[in-house]
Amino acid sequence: MTDLRKREPFLVVGNWKMNGSRRALDTFQSEMKSVETHGVTIALCLPAALISAGVKAFEGSDMGIGGQNCHSEQAGAFTGEISAEMLADVGADYVIVGHSERREFFSESDLDVARKGAAAHKAGLTTVLCVGETHSQRAAGNHVETVLSQLKASLPKSATRENTVVAYEPVWAIGSGESASLAQIEEMHSAISEFLRDRSCSLVLLYGGSVKPDTAKAIAGVNAVDGFLVGGASLKAADFGKIIRSVQ
Ligand code: PGA
Repeated sequence: MTDLRKREPFLVVGNWKMNGSRRALDTFQSEMKSVETHGVTIALCLPAALISAGVKAFEGSDMGIGGQNCHSEQAGAFTGEISAEMLADVGADYVIVGHSERREFFSESDLDVARKGAAAHKAGLTTVLCVGETHSQRAAGNHVETVLSQLKASLPKSATRENTVVAYEPVWAIGSGESASLAQIEEMHSAISEFLRDRSCSLVLLYGGSVKPDTAKAIAGVNAVDGFLVGGASLKAADFGKIIRSVQ
């Protein structure tokens, strides 16, 4: 366990996935006004259709706004896609790349993720690069190897501490209500830190996968956990606020 106060600001990023509406965003924004960030850096990754509204709603506040995906090209004939430049143009600061739902449901490879990350860096965005093993990979004892190989292949050369955050999200813990154990999180975060250290790279490491108000404090105390990527519990300002308060 580490003393939270000795570290740089803890980063809490919300991921609304394909949820929300203008009305939900307005309610969320007005409820978040009573949440003091007290040195915690916060951001909200919204569905593309809500990004402009999110930027406007949180203008002048501590809330960073992000997308959940981007294309690797700047522009062109890619119907339905959004480029990193477009996200930056409407005022986003962050973009999630390589979320396991993108990898699984949209067949994104590590190489795709690396290209998206490089494009996002070029556009001036901070990437939240997700990695994580499935249940069967863990059951086979291959979890560390799997995650490190994903990281190696999906981390673009342009990654620096300023523009890249890594989120370890065990696929089996996402949306399940059951986060990884503290020992499992510590094992993976130490392995990732060591892997990055060997490459003279030091990045902020988030944990994601069923982070809830009642578990956040304990997870935040795990060595090398510098923040959270929060899905379900970021949809309600009351829960998101409790998570932020619990790491202060
Ligand atoms: P969850 O989602 O907090 O609902 O498990 C996390 C994520 O998918 O980023």
